[in-house]
Amino acid sequence: MSTEDKIVSYRRLFGRFATGVAVVLAEDGNNVVGLTVNSLTSVSLNPLLLLFCARNESESAATVLRVGRFSVNVLTAHQEAIARHFAGPRTTTTKFNCQRSEGFVSIPASAAVFRCTVEGVHLGGDHRIIIGRVIDMIGPDECNPPLLYHQGRYTELELDMEEKFLAGTEQR
Ligand SMILES: Cc1cc2nc3c(=O)[nH]c(=O)nc-3n(C[C@H](O)[C@H](O)[C@H](O)COP(=O)(O)O)c2cc1C
Repeated sequence: MSTEDKIVSYRRLFGRFATGVAVVLAEDGNNVVGLTVNSLTSVSLNPLLLLFCARNESESAATVLRVGRFSVNVLTAHQEAIARHFAGPRTTTTKFNCQRSEGFVSIPASAAVFRCTVEGVHLGGDHRIIIGRVIDMIGPDECNPPLLYHQGRYTELELDMEEKFLAGTEQR
């Protein structure tokens, strides 16, 4: 199998690993930059650490590393347009409805927001693994259904699952 064929198979099969969707945001001067990610992973509880992976060429990740702080905004099913916005081509002058607090920008009505400082960065082939130390976190008491990504598509929980989710009866 050629390298290109392997990459195609890898993407196709890894697409079966369903994930949530988050937007990593950073502010550089008056410019808010961000990228949609599904590589978000919790790393450590003590200290609180998380990671996401970003393409080596990612301009938003370069800004995150330059300013040393970022927010991770976990999206709900109502926020697909925001995921698309930060996954597509755009200019840094794009106006986006962000909240500002204590030097961090975040997306209102997210399921959860983690405010982080950059703890470390590691090479991972054509991506960088960026570790964040969680400084604080916020989220509404009620958890809305999450935005999901599966097989290259945005999706959400099936309706009956959603009802169970909202009723707080989901199995752990
Ligand atoms: C659901 C979804 C998840 C994504 N996850 C990642 C990711 O984890 N890391 C990454 O570098 N790009 C990811 N991307 C692609 C980036 O969002 C996209 O390339 C974005 O335009 C990068 O912006 P930047 O060039 O400002 O860094 C994802 C895209 C989608 C639609």
